[in-house]
Amino acid sequence: MVHPFSHYQQSADLIRSRMGDFTPDIALVLGSGLGFLGDMVEQPVAIPYGDIPHFPRSTAPGHAGRLVLGTLAGKRVAVMQGRMHHYEGYSYEAVSYAVRVLRLLGCGSLIVTNAAGCVNTAWKAGDLMLITDQIKMFSESPLRGENLPQFGVRFPDASHLYTPRLQELARRTAAERGIPLREGVYFYCYGPQYETPAEIRAARLLGGDAVGMSTAPEVIVAGHCGMEVLGLTLLSNMAAGILDQPLSEQEVLDAAGTAREKFSGLVRACLRKM
Ligand code: HPA
Repeated sequence: MVHPFSHYQQSADLIRSRMGDFTPDIALVLGSGLGFLGDMVEQPVAIPYGDIPHFPRSTAPGHAGRLVLGTLAGKRVAVMQGRMHHYEGYSYEAVSYAVRVLRLLGCGSLIVTNAAGCVNTAWKAGDLMLITDQIKMFSESPLRGENLPQFGVRFPDASHLYTPRLQELARRTAAERGIPLREGVYFYCYGPQYETPAEIRAARLLGGDAVGMSTAPEVIVAGHCGMEVLGLTLLSNMAAGILDQPLSEQEVLDAAGTAREKFSGLVRACLRKM
């Protein structure tokens, strides 16, 4: 535990000093290739992560590394354009630091998006998936260390990390827009190497439908501090060993580019209904 409660307050204070009397209701964390949604925010106030005390920087390609506050789909939002990953060298506490700051700023819900490998062999690359649950059993918790009771309890329930009401809202929204939406379990792997075929077989046996290197830590922290969560995944590639071809970052970014309109349209439509 590196960050006392006062650090979160100092981060929130800096952001408040820039955003005037605006207060965000909904936080969004944008994954690979989806950062452009942050550019659609109206009346934006953009704050580089580097300006915010105690905030980690994001170094991953395609992640801009700034917080954008303003209006999107008629809602007052705080958009993280770029997220932090454990594979960049950050602790899980650092990876999920921003979520707690956004909670202090007033965000009651969180939309998380990501690109992930498709573990479920009945599906195909390019499909969208509603995250119904997650598995992050093989690495430490972002809540490890002294508990900060200002955010939540020592042993938080994790039965419904992905809020059933928001899952239903996303199902309805996708159906109305004629967007096929898979549903499944996000299996967290810390990367940065893509998984081995044996790891993907293990993930499938354990109940995973998608595999990725983000999201799960932030969602644990959001659940701890009482936020509602909606998770949407772009299945950017078939996971390792399913097709007879190596995985590459370019494949992930290309898929994100192709699915851009469909994915961002669904996110905005869900947001509008929240
Ligand atoms: N594995 C892990 N993370 C990913 C993948 C994958 O296949 N695709 C996109 N992010």
